[in-house]
Amino acid sequence: MKVLVIGSGAREHALVRALRADPEVEALWCAPGNAGIASDIPVLEVDPLDGAAVAALAAGLHADLVVIGPEGPLVAGVADTVRAGGLACFGPSAAAARIEGSKAFAKEVMACAAVPTAMAHICQSAQEVATALDAFGPPYVVKDDGLAAGKGVLVTTDRSAALAHAAGCERVLVEEFLDGPEVSLFAVCDGRTVLPLAPAQDFKRAGDGDTGPNTGGMGAYSPLPWLPAGLVAEVTDSVLVPTVEELRHRGTPFVGLLYAGLALTSRGVRVVEFNARFGDPETQVVLARLLSPLGRLLHAAATGRLDELEPPRWSPDSAVTVVLAAQGYPGNPRTGDKITGLDEVRAPAYVLHAGTRRDSDGSLVSAGGRVLSVTATGADLAAARQAVHAALSCLTLPGSHYRRDIALQAARGQVRLPGRATDS
Ligand code: AMP
Ligand code: GLY
Repeated sequence: MKVLVIGSGAREHALVRALRADPEVEALWCAPGNAGIASDIPVLEVDPLDGAAVAALAAGLHADLVVIGPEGPLVAGVADTVRAGGLACFGPSAAAARIEGSKAFAKEVMACAAVPTAMAHICQSAQEVATALDAFGPPYVVKDDGLAAGKGVLVTTDRSAALAHAAGCERVLVEEFLDGPEVSLFAVCDGRTVLPLAPAQDFKRAGDGDTGPNTGGMGAYSPLPWLPAGLVAEVTDSVLVPTVEELRHRGTPFVGLLYAGLALTSRGVRVVEFNARFGDPETQVVLARLLSPLGRLLHAAATGRLDELEPPRWSPDSAVTVVLAAQGYPGNPRTGDKITGLDEVRAPAYVLHAGTRRDSDGSLVSAGGRVLSVTATGADLAAARQAVHAALSCLTLPGSHYRRDIALQAARGQVRLPGRATDS
């Protein structure tokens, strides 16, 4: 199988790493990629938002499968153009990707499919926002309706900050606050069949102890030792299957990765958000534990044959990833800083690249807000954390920051579920 991966982040580097390990994948390219991906496989130039260019590139390579990583191209309809050219594509159509592209649309789909989510008001004026904030009370949750790379959400007890955030958005959702830990559950879908992957937890805030602004994600781990037994089956039945069925009945089947961001609240599981693609950085830890071949899985989804596959198999090991972010991220990240120390990183840790490029003199420099995703597996979360931190201590990037507490509470058995007894 010949596979072309579209994208340039650590998620795509993780996909490339897992696809390289699949013996059925005989040729693999990434476009546009980054410096780390380029040291593993050939990278090609393309504008990922240009559907015709992506389709032409894939056709020229005689690719059997195109895997589209980021949401931007999916929402822009790049998967539609690739499929229209007769190629198998892992990634939803623009119509199905609206589940991520518009939070208001996602709410409407969930209402039709009776999927549990936070109550929300969709507001178009400051007056509507003020009324909705007062109806729910603090903590206030204000969300930009459109794509915002995880940074369009403000959760605050400061009413004037909530109003100010809303004023900067065209259309906003004001939501009920959801308590309880969050879980990211991915499902591979072929429009009809839904195969859930191993759950992961993401850390969205920039600072230790969940302080600071929301980011695209600062780290992740899998598995979640504190997760109640049966939760994946419960979410599959109450969230994933009804959503995929609803989209199929609308004539816009979801083919690709459906990402359910969940909160385990005192009143049960609630969907915080849907994404239409693999999450970053959760993909880094989920794929670190995948034992079955990824190419076969994604190809079966893209060609409507998921029902022929066995469920994916998982390593019992734990995986942890920590994002090394540039100075200023998530605000205005500084780029062009030299990255050193990668040669000193030792197994079981490894470094996936996000925003990196080669300078004219060949040295590695930062080229984005999230720069590297340092990943490791271990017999348990504590061992995986230790390996990641040993690797991080080898790396230098001036002004960079990373969280020290990724997977720490889980490793210590301190994650608490509101209203539920825990056995840890
Ligand atoms: P979203 O882009 O919708 O995933 O929101 C980003 C992050 O904001 C989530 O992962 C949560 O940490 C937080 N968040 C979003 N919605 C809520 C909510 N209704 N209650 C509490 N926290 C939320
Ligand atoms: N880690 C959150 C996301 O991928 O949107």
